[in-house]
Amino acid sequence: MRIIMLGAPGAGKGTQAKKIAARYGIPHISTGDIFRANIKNGTELGKKAKTYMDQGLLVPDELTCDLVVDRIQQPDAEKGYVLDGFPRTIPQAECLTEALEKLGSKIDYAIDVDVPDSNIVNRMSGRRACVKCGATYHIVYAAPKQEGICDACGEKLILRDDDKPETVQKRLDVYHSQTQPLIDYYTKQGVLKSVDGTKDLDEVFAQITQILGA
Ligand code: AP5
Repeated sequence: MRIIMLGAPGAGKGTQAKKIAARYGIPHISTGDIFRANIKNGTELGKKAKTYMDQGLLVPDELTCDLVVDRIQQPDAEKGYVLDGFPRTIPQAECLTEALEKLGSKIDYAIDVDVPDSNIVNRMSGRRACVKCGATYHIVYAAPKQEGICDACGEKLILRDDDKPETVQKRLDVYHSQTQPLIDYYTKQGVLKSVDGTKDLDEVFAQITQILGA
């Protein structure tokens, strides 16, 4: 099963992608997590990506597409994957479609997690993330067992640099101008499904499993 998660920053794509990956036994591939791991490790890619991410801008397509096309050809992705945060622009979507055609494969579902902008800033300011293992929490809606500590690996949780309200607004603007057109793109490919992302975490997941089949 090859799945793309679409939706605004903070819509809950990552939260649901992790649940899908666990339920269906496929890898969760998040370009945001890949960039953050590179930033943490001080790689050249990480240094380049950071300058864009800190401003709420997209990392250039040429740094992103090959990375994902390579990742989806790894052995663990043979039976499928859930892409989170990619594609994010029409050129990225075209690059993915072209690469999949060459591999004789295609996307089965593009799931749009629909949340209005008015809910987003609140969600982002309450989000806490683990830089070590990528787990995410919310101080109210999905709190860790011990405040400030990751349940999964015991690392300290942080507020992401790009979750400050002024950067969130920029990311929302970028989403509407560059990523939202993908909803039309995948509607035309006949694979778009929408879920109401304002419901609680488990209700959103129930909508998704209804689409994917339990
Ligand atoms: P990325 O890490 O992909 O960020 P994003 O798309 O902006 O998405 P988020 O991770 O912020 O949100 P999410 O939808 O996953 O929400 P979450 O589940 O955490 O990208 C970061 C940056 O990297 C980009 O700005 C860009 O610079 C760069 N980048 C990445 N990919 C790129 C690409 N392809 N091309 C170019 N640049 C790229 O949920 C948010 C919070 O809400 C959490 O606290 C969660 O617990 C809570 N929550 C979730 N669901 C619910 C619910 N139903 N009810 C209540 N709370 C909820």
